[in-house]
Parts: sequence; C-alpha cells; structure tokens
Amino acid sequence: MEFTIKSGSPEKQRSACVVVGVFDNRKLSLSAELIDRASNGYVSEIIRRGDMEGKLGSTLLLHSVRGTLADRVLLVGLGKERDFRDKEFRQAIRSAVKLLNETGSYEAVIYLTEEKVKRREVAWRVEHAVIVAMDSVYRFEQMKSEPTEVRRPLRKLTLSVPQRSDLSAGEAAAARGLAISHGMDLAKDLGNLPSNVCTPTYLAERAKELGQLFPEIKVTVLERPQIEALGMGSFLAVTKGSDEAPRFIVLEYEQSPRKQKPVVLVGKGITFDTGGISIKPAADMDQMKFDMCGAASVFGTFRAIAELKSKLNVVGLIPTCENMLSGHATKPGDIVKSMSGQTVEILNTDAEGRLILSDALTYAERYEPQAVIDVATLTGAMVIALGHVASGVFSNSDSLARALLAAGDDAYDRGWQMPLWDDYQEGLASNFADFANIAGRAGGGITAACFLSRFTKKYDWAHLDIAGTAWKEGKEKGATGRPVPMLATWLLAQEGAL
Ligand code: BES
Ligand code: MN
Ligand code: ZN
Repeated sequence: MEFTIKSGSPEKQRSACVVVGVFDNRKLSLSAELIDRASNGYVSEIIRRGDMEGKLGSTLLLHSVRGTLADRVLLVGLGKERDFRDKEFRQAIRSAVKLLNETGSYEAVIYLTEEKVKRREVAWRVEHAVIVAMDSVYRFEQMKSEPTEVRRPLRKLTLSVPQRSDLSAGEAAAARGLAISHGMDLAKDLGNLPSNVCTPTYLAERAKELGQLFPEIKVTVLERPQIEALGMGSFLAVTKGSDEAPRFIVLEYEQSPRKQKPVVLVGKGITFDTGGISIKPAADMDQMKFDMCGAASVFGTFRAIAELKSKLNVVGLIPTCENMLSGHATKPGDIVKSMSGQTVEILNTDAEGRLILSDALTYAERYEPQAVIDVATLTGAMVIALGHVASGVFSNSDSLARALLAAGDDAYDRGWQMPLWDDYQEGLASNFADFANIAGRAGGGITAACFLSRFTKKYDWAHLDIAGTAWKEGKEKGATGRPVPMLATWLLAQEGAL
C-alpha cells in the first residue's frame, strides 16, 4: 500500500472516499463538521435519525454526499472523546481500513489522523495509522492454491494532517511507519511459514536475500563444521536429533559514522519444537512452528532500520535448528559443554531455546557490544504470567529495561519488566554439572531468564520473552510481527540520541 500526507478540507477532496470521525454520543469531529456544513446538514440529519452513535469502531458508508467532491464519505465511530487514546485511535483506523478494503475504493483520504490523542503528536498518529493500516490488510496466502481475492483492494491512503507545517513531520512519520510495517510483514511471513518450508537452511537463504536487497546488511552463515569449531556444545545438543542441518546466521549493519560499539540482537530460531525426547503433548503442537519468531523479529528489525538508512551499528545473531527426537537426540540427564566453557545438565530437552541462545550470547562477546537484546518464544510460563498483551522484559541494566519499556509504550508493542533477582537462581543447581537447564515449574519464565543471565555477565543485556505475543491463536491464528515495533523504535531513539 502507498501512503501520502496532505493538509486540506475534507469536502474539497477528489477521492473515492473521505473518512471522518464521529464521537460518542453523536458528536461530530471537526472534519465531520466540515462535511456537514458543505452538505447543508446531511451528516447531522443522519445522526439525528440514529444511524451513527459514534461507538468506537462502528462505521457508516455514505455515497455521493452533496456539496463534497468525493464519491463516498465514511463515518467512523471514535468512542467517547475524553477516552480517545492510543488503543482507541488504532481501533478507529483499523475499522476504517478494513471497511475500505471491502468497498470499491482503491484509495481514500483519512481525516482521523487529525484527531487529538492524549500525549501524542501528529507524527505518532501518522506512524501508527500506517502501521495499523498495513497490519489490517496483511494476509498470508502464499501456501493456498487459490488465494482469496479481494475484489478492489485498497491501494493508496492519504493521511490528513491539521496544518501545512505538519507535512514534513508527517512524511517522515509515514516513512517510519512503512519501514516498521515492512519489517513486521517479513517477521509475520517467516513466522507463518510451516516448518517443512521454513527450515534453518531456508532462514539462512532468506537472510542472504535480505543482504541482497539491502547491501548495507552483511550476511554470514556458519554451518555445522564452523559451529563445532566454535565449541557451541549447547546449540549442537539441540540440533542433534534432527535431520535438518543447523545454521548460525550473522547479520552486520554498520552505518554509524562514529566508531561505535554495536547493539547485538539475538533471535531464537527453533524452526520446530517437538520438545525432543521430553516430547510435547499433541494438542496445539503445530503452533511450535512459531518457535522461530524471535529470529523472525530480528530479520524484521534489520529490514526496518535498513529501509530507513539508520545511522546505527547493529549485529544480528540467529542460532537456528529443529528440536526433534530420534536415535541421535539428546536425552534427559545428558551433560554438554557450552561455548562459554560452563557445563549444563539437560534435564528437560524441551528447554532448548535457552541452550541455543546461551551459545549465541557467548558469541556476542566478540563485538564488545554496547548492549545485547535476545528475543525468544522462550517459556509457556510467560504466557501464563502476562497473557498475550505484554512481552516479558528481563535485564541486568535498569536503564536498558526502562528504555525498552518506553519504546514499547510508544510503539504500542508493550513489555512489562520481570525480576531477575539472584534468589531465583537457586533452582538451577545441579549435582552433576555446573548447572541444569531447568528449575521447578514455579516462575518458569524467570528461571529461564536466570539461565541466560549466566552467559551475559560481560555486557548490558535484556531478554524479551515473546511466547505470549509473537503469534495469535484461534480464528486469527498467525504471527503478529511483534516485537519489531518495540525494537525498531528503541533503535531509532538511540539514533536520535547520538
Ligand atoms: N518454545 C517453548 C515455549 C513455548 C511454549 C512458547 C508454549 C509458547 C507456547 C519452549 O521451548 C519450551 O518448551 N519451554 C518449556 C520449558 C520447560 C520445559 C522448563 C515450557 O515453557 O514448557
Ligand atoms: Mn521447548
Ligand atoms: Zn522452544
């Protein structure tokens, strides 16, 4: 979809559709008011008849409204004016775009971006309008023999800003929103692909493709012999039961004019998690194709910052393999030596994410990073703790955690800080190795983070457990593209701070 920014009166737009808001209860927004005046009170007449109350997300499509130059006027309910915040703004945009996509309009001019949202500037409204619009029209149909056709899909959206002086900020915000959306689309596509297509080898190919699309991204792919030479015993223990070859993907984006230490993003890339010998129950196991969504979000974040030509130094590390069971598979009680030299007793082969991440976290040391963020669908316990709303944020640096939480708030891709206190470390004790890969059931998300913390002593580090946020279940089953918005927003804020 294409986006442009404009400033002007709604009644004067030559467009297939002009979209204006109505507050609950029956209160016209300024742009709806302008349409009303131009049409000699047609809009208020309709509202008086009770066809549009202004309930959040409701819509009413009007054709050939006299006094206006557009083919259609779409009224969108905004809810109570004093409650109009981030969530409500995004819901209004979503309802409008979904409806537009189903009408005959190829394009439209949206005035909802002129409405005031508490604490937010016009740039925020434009960026989020773009992201929500792109998210609303996303479909994953590449595996269907006959994609469901949208008759006349929405191709172009014009977003209105209140003043001409807002145009340049609006254009920059639209570019940001579009880059983040492209990153999210990439993360969604990779997440949604089944594990028989999206193998570790496939992910490595897609990484190279990304490097071709954006030559600023240098891509290196390590194969088994190199992974062995590095001594990545934890990673190798996970891939052992699988016939698919593992890969260790390195993305390097060095565009900061200053010799600046890089930020390292590490993504869990388990292309399918059966649990291994500690096998998972059958119900819903298909969802474990999403166990590479952390990796996908690193790809997506790179895509976003490269598209924006950000002046940053960022490294991406993606350990990727399958967690399978076979005669070669790692067995409960097996002890392996990680790249860090620490030995691990693998008491449960289903706690594999932390094993592949631990070696990647050790590998990250060579960059002398300014900060390392790992992103992983790590624990079912995290889903129980925070549900599908917030990602778990763990960090050994409070300022890093705060910055990520703030970025998540801005991006409407929120995180919630979880504790990493030493008291939680005790459960990992082992009688046979330096420590075990699991503790008891209680606080499972936290003890998983504690395990990782044993490999991150040399730098500022944060861990995002996205088990509850990376994909949706049920009727809308599919990858969400999270936490690309949080990560991209955090990185772009760093660029701004330089
Ligand atoms: N990939 C799973 C975590 C997961 C489970 C994410 C369900 C989303 C939904 C991870 O590898 C895993 O299996 N974790 C185990 C750890 C346990 C064995 C300590 C879990 O959470 O059950
Ligand atoms: Mn597992
Ligand atoms: Zn897993």
